[in-house]
Amino acid sequence: MSETIDLVIFGALGDLSKRKLFPALYQLDRADLLDDEVRIAGLARGDITTEAFCEQIYQALKRAFGSSAFDESSWQRFSSRLSYIQVDFAQQEQFPAIRKWLLKDRTTIYYLATPPSLFGSICKHLSAAECVASDTRIVLEKPIGHDLQSSQQVNSAVAESFDERNIYRIDHYLGKETVQNLLALRFANRMINSQWDNSCIDHVQITAAETVGIEGRWSYYDKVGQLRDMIQNHVLQLLCMVAMEPPNSLQADEIRAEKVKILRALSPITVANVASQAVRGQYTAGWIAGKPVVGYMEEAGSERDSSNTETFVALKAYIDNWRWAGVPFYLRTGKRMQGKVTEVVITYKDHPHAIFPDGTGEAKNRLIIRLQPNEGIELEMVSKKQSLKERMSLEKRRLNLDFFDSSGESRIADAYERLFLEVIKGDQWLFVSREEIEASWRWCDTLLDAWKQTGIGTMGYSAGSSGPSKADMLIEKDQRSWHGS
Ligand code: BG6
Repeated sequence: MSETIDLVIFGALGDLSKRKLFPALYQLDRADLLDDEVRIAGLARGDITTEAFCEQIYQALKRAFGSSAFDESSWQRFSSRLSYIQVDFAQQEQFPAIRKWLLKDRTTIYYLATPPSLFGSICKHLSAAECVASDTRIVLEKPIGHDLQSSQQVNSAVAESFDERNIYRIDHYLGKETVQNLLALRFANRMINSQWDNSCIDHVQITAAETVGIEGRWSYYDKVGQLRDMIQNHVLQLLCMVAMEPPNSLQADEIRAEKVKILRALSPITVANVASQAVRGQYTAGWIAGKPVVGYMEEAGSERDSSNTETFVALKAYIDNWRWAGVPFYLRTGKRMQGKVTEVVITYKDHPHAIFPDGTGEAKNRLIIRLQPNEGIELEMVSKKQSLKERMSLEKRRLNLDFFDSSGESRIADAYERLFLEVIKGDQWLFVSREEIEASWRWCDTLLDAWKQTGIGTMGYSAGSSGPSKADMLIEKDQRSWHGS
């Protein structure tokens, strides 16, 4: 398949484009991973020239990498690929300007870094302007919808112009090296895979904690909340990678089919169990890295006196299938937490019979898969303490596989670099299918509805803490504790 493509980015002057998309493309170019012929058009409403557009991207890249890591000669090559096209995305009559820019006999990739409310109309206008061929691909940023119904509307609107095989729905977590490594860890290591079920595993924890707040997005975020922002997509995708059955191969269809099965097997959290299986929180003023920060309601842009939107969620979820029956998956994510940590922690069961008496230090094995910071895998094991004085005393030791040190690379690639490469190759294995999106919305909608019906509100937690105390109770009442607490 040809990798000579034309890439057209809608929303090219937005935050995502400047912070993530152009830096990723620049890095790919710098690493010689973009075909010489690849051209990139940035689209936005502003009346500016290509030179002014390049200047904005230049400044954004310098901000992203810092002057020392920025290479002027790579920029010269990269900037020669860039064009700017002024288009008001709501105005169909402006779309022929895109067609004019495209070259025949090339594959076009449209990247919609725009609000999802525009996805349907952009696709319609592209079709009407004859900008869509049978191999034209489209990349959609999250969120796809606000709930099941709206996601179906978005998906159906896009499907009128593009085949499912040409639609690439981004979940940037799937672009992270460590998330892909879950496949290697599980399916390339016999030892791990044979112990991967309810006979050996006591419980699983998935944490995605952030120190950032809502970053100037108050009015958007207040309609969304952390369940939709992080659980519906990133955290459930992680859960799928941990829980899915071995796919028949690494083909996209095979992997995605296994993930859908997990999403469909998630036991619903309903009015009956929401109080015991779900906690929502909202941050109040506190301290992050020694600096005072305001609470959610005092954030710039806050429009109301009170809000019930959650900035923290902790859940106890179950997967109703043969492998995972009875194994709780504790999920936790929040803004303004004490550290930026994304990790999966697998805790193994005790042995059926204990030969080491109480007090010798026996502990459960734990496998810690750290996505950030310090990407790597740790296995907590128990070994004998070296000592002549004691007959048998045990201690916890760690086998440590550090990705960064062992990779020989000078940096770990950003998720968007990997994702761009896969779209260019035409491989959907790291993108989310329509069925996955809709199955995860179905599950989240049930939970959101249970919160609504029961009127369960958010509990305050201080910025810089580990979340509301009720989240600790959620796990402690099962005689377990959050990793790191
Ligand atoms: C985005 C969310 O999808 O992911 C943000 O909208 C969140 O609210 C971000 O901060 C987290 O991504 P990462 O890669 O920094 O963990």
